[in-house]
Amino acid sequence: MTSTPRTSTARPVPGPRGIPVLGSLPQWKKSTAEFLLRVQRDHGEISRIKLGPQEVYLVSDPEAVGRVLKDNNGNYVRGTLYEQFRIVMGDGLLTTDGDFWKAHRRAVQPVFLRKAVNAVAPYVVDATREMLDEWEERARRGEPVDLVTETLRLTLVTLSRSLFGYDVRPAVPVLKDVVDNVIEVMFKHGSVTEMLPSWIPTKRNRTIARDRRIFTRLVTEIREHHAATGEGRLMELIEAATDPVTGQRWTDDEVRDEMLTIYLAGHETTAVSLLWTLLSVANNPAVQTEMDDEIARVLGGREPGADDVEELPYTRQVIDESLRLYPPIWVYPRDAVAADELGGYHVPAGSSVLLSPLVSHRNPRHWDNPEAFDPHRFDPERVKERPRMTYFPFGAGARMCIGNFMALLELRIAVAMISQRFRLSLLPGNFIRYGDTSVSLRPMSEVLVRLHPRDLDGRHGQAPSVAVGA
Ligand code: HEM
Repeated sequence: MTSTPRTSTARPVPGPRGIPVLGSLPQWKKSTAEFLLRVQRDHGEISRIKLGPQEVYLVSDPEAVGRVLKDNNGNYVRGTLYEQFRIVMGDGLLTTDGDFWKAHRRAVQPVFLRKAVNAVAPYVVDATREMLDEWEERARRGEPVDLVTETLRLTLVTLSRSLFGYDVRPAVPVLKDVVDNVIEVMFKHGSVTEMLPSWIPTKRNRTIARDRRIFTRLVTEIREHHAATGEGRLMELIEAATDPVTGQRWTDDEVRDEMLTIYLAGHETTAVSLLWTLLSVANNPAVQTEMDDEIARVLGGREPGADDVEELPYTRQVIDESLRLYPPIWVYPRDAVAADELGGYHVPAGSSVLLSPLVSHRNPRHWDNPEAFDPHRFDPERVKERPRMTYFPFGAGARMCIGNFMALLELRIAVAMISQRFRLSLLPGNFIRYGDTSVSLRPMSEVLVRLHPRDLDGRHGQAPSVAVGA
């Protein structure tokens, strides 16, 4: 709902001065996350940043974040910065607004409801077991694994089987390439080729066109498989979905774009979150021990089911803390349709607003020692003490992540099963840096870990050397 600004002050919005013409674009491109954290530290919770011809407002004041995402969300649309996503993903849930978005959200929502996602649990268990069985083999051979590849494959296989009824394993290497490209393309802000129309055959445009062709072929296969077998509850909803005005079935393009959106938004995010959770636990032996005790007490060595995850509150807090420090979707934009007031500052109509869970989640005003990994921040009584919108890894309001219940279920099951069977330690000399020039917070390079099967080690925990940083 749109509401009028509460007051109309003309106080200038603080922000970095930057250099003539380019403004702060060079710092933004060098390390966007570090730059935005610095802007919050030096200029406060509402600031104005000039990026070449554009100006954006970085908003981390909790009240103002709540106003953008919830209280006045009718005034904030996907806008210009989401155009980068549209080029790749087309018109799906993530990139559209208004009636089109509402109809699509309504059509697919049933499979993502809290109770409905329990149906995903057996798929997560199967895919995780398959991965861990392979890990046993590799551990026996003394081979490390790349955690980036492993977590991406796990979440892609789980999502594809559980929602679309399709075994995507043979296509995983090709899809990983596609996803890598897509992520790079979506957040290359400020490059000249980004400004050129899509019909000009730049390298970037050719890559996007090729990736969309690969995905279109995959979608055709998945739809044919569904037509033959009836498998895949989400596929069923998508094939039956109709336009509320015309009553017509979704077009092939609509189906493709929505499937692409759910594949991309659903697996990369969960994989990145699993990766940071595993690394954070490996780096904090006390956390590992406390989590092991809980898992052993609740599961006693058996595989988890959907009902068990509610009995693992500390494991959930470990995941919550990992999503605080390393929120996979760490920054996202909105455009203000009409002028508004945020945190006492006037924001003109048409302004681009940036919300950053990463910046908000490390705000020292609300988080003591924000860089430290401490799952007890999420003890229920401490959660109650914090203002709303200091923590929003899944967004908030009407546009809140549709897959949040699914992701949290998947993460608890995978983390519990991995911890039951392995300790991980980073290969010596590795320092993990997150990929903060990308749309997701994926590490910049592969993350090679050594696997220590728990029964072979005969130890409860292991103190690995994991170096993690910005
Ligand atoms: C840890 C895992 C995940 C994180 C951190 C995450 C984060 C987010 C965030 C922050 C948004 C809101 C973006 C905005 O408001 O601009 C979002 C939206 C969305 N997410 Fe997720 N997500 C995760 C997992 C998933 C999964 C598992 C799925 C589906 C299988 C999914 C599908 C979507 C879709 C379709 C949207 C757009 C929703 C809409 O606007 O109606 N996400 N996600």
